[in-house]
Amino acid sequence: MKPRICLCLTGRTHEENLRTVERFRSAVDLVELRADYLDPGERFFIREFPRKAGLPCILTIRRRADGGRFDDGEGVRLVLFAKALSYARSDSSANYAYVDLEDDFHIPVIEEACRTFGTRIIRSSHHLNGMPQNLDEVWNRITLEEDEIPRLAVQLSSSRELLAFLKWALSLPAKDKLVLALGAYGVMSGILAWRLGSLWTYASSNRNTPLYREQGFLDPFKLRSIYRFDSINDNTVLYTLVGQPSILASLSPYLHNNAFKEMGKNALLIPTPVDEVKHAVRILEMIGGQGAAVTVPFKEDILPLLSFHSTDVKRIGACNTLVRREGSWAGYNTDADGFEKSLVEFLDRQDLTGCRATIVGAGGAAKSVALALYRKKAQCLILNRTYSTARDLARKYNFHYSHLDERAIDLISDFSDLIVQATSVGMNSTEDPLGFYEFTGKEAVFDLIYHPAKTRLLARAEAAGCRITNGYRMLCHQAAGQYKLWMNEPPPDIYAQLPQPE
Ligand code: ATR
Repeated sequence: MKPRICLCLTGRTHEENLRTVERFRSAVDLVELRADYLDPGERFFIREFPRKAGLPCILTIRRRADGGRFDDGEGVRLVLFAKALSYARSDSSANYAYVDLEDDFHIPVIEEACRTFGTRIIRSSHHLNGMPQNLDEVWNRITLEEDEIPRLAVQLSSSRELLAFLKWALSLPAKDKLVLALGAYGVMSGILAWRLGSLWTYASSNRNTPLYREQGFLDPFKLRSIYRFDSINDNTVLYTLVGQPSILASLSPYLHNNAFKEMGKNALLIPTPVDEVKHAVRILEMIGGQGAAVTVPFKEDILPLLSFHSTDVKRIGACNTLVRREGSWAGYNTDADGFEKSLVEFLDRQDLTGCRATIVGAGGAAKSVALALYRKKAQCLILNRTYSTARDLARKYNFHYSHLDERAIDLISDFSDLIVQATSVGMNSTEDPLGFYEFTGKEAVFDLIYHPAKTRLLARAEAAGCRITNGYRMLCHQAAGQYKLWMNEPPPDIYAQLPQPE
């Protein structure tokens, strides 16, 4: 099935919606007028919308109880449907192509009008509190009429629910349908709607609408440019990005999917936020995935689920790459290599003999940094909030260690050629884990965080005259390493060329 995109229009006026249609016309196949978002005065003019939009239109007037905005009562809703579907034109493009009616909304005269004038009924059932217990019963109810399109939408709150949803959706017979898992845990069901047999994917134009934030609908341009809606098909080989819901802001899909496209690979990387790593593995297996990029906080939790651990996985004690091999999962780590390559670029120096460096943090990311700096022969100081973790990591490489506070100031001065920030502090915030230290301007400062592009720590270092870099180049290099493992061929230059998006 070819993936199609339906843009949900949630403007308060027709004018606003028509402007949105123009902006996205080249990227969408159909639009859904969410008349429940319209100002009350605008609702009287819904009949003319399909002609003005010039694209196949769905009419939806969603009640608040079903997650919409409409609370003027069923009588008014009925009148609006009647108004929108009446006076059908012989030119069918001036009529609504679809109307979305809930499973408890059966008005024979409306349904008759739809059937007479070629408007297809979408029969909807909404579940805002997770998977319904009686799913089969619900499905039977919305599939009673052969010519209607059943649409089941479930708001998910965990990856366990996503697993149950996928298992159910993948077992449905081939037939026109729409199955949607909403919320951050359901995002992959939108990207893979075509694989689940859905007629289309719902998209949202605006990051500020609840549809984008709460329901997980992506932007149509993003679906085309990042998730390759123009070229994916049933043979596309899938890879996943495994992490918490915050991975939805990750740049990994941007990097990998651009590289796949550049190299003519029929492959796609999709984010799969989970709350337990074993769910990510089950999802991969359900969709026939061939590999995964694993990120915080699952790089360690994944270890017991692997049949093979690479040397770097063993040394670092963490895995960031899965490769499907003979029915099981081989684990690799490309972080240390990725950091090493970006460090060589940053310092323009291959060998770091004599370089004295401070590593801030002793978690998963810091472990890769420590291994890379050890290989490069740098002498290091490790600082961490939890002293014992700093000590355990430092002892592996015979490095120095200390607390991450004022007590370390003199030591830092002694290890200040390079400072690598490898904690999560400063990610999406203005916190500075090294706030107690004043840069002299001589330090080279590398913050592994790339979102924001310039953390408070990097801004302070730059203001003091230091050379600085963020974690974007490391992300690119570790992603290139993953490509090599997945495709068994050298990674393309595009990993080094793609700029960090705004
Ligand atoms: P990652 O894989 O991103 O390194 P991690 O393994 O959870 O994630 O490690 C997080 C790092 O950030 C650790 O060094 C952690 O310090 P602790 O070992 O003391 O937990 C550090 N970190 C997280 N929150 C912090 C905070 N508020 N202040 C200082 N350090 C913090």
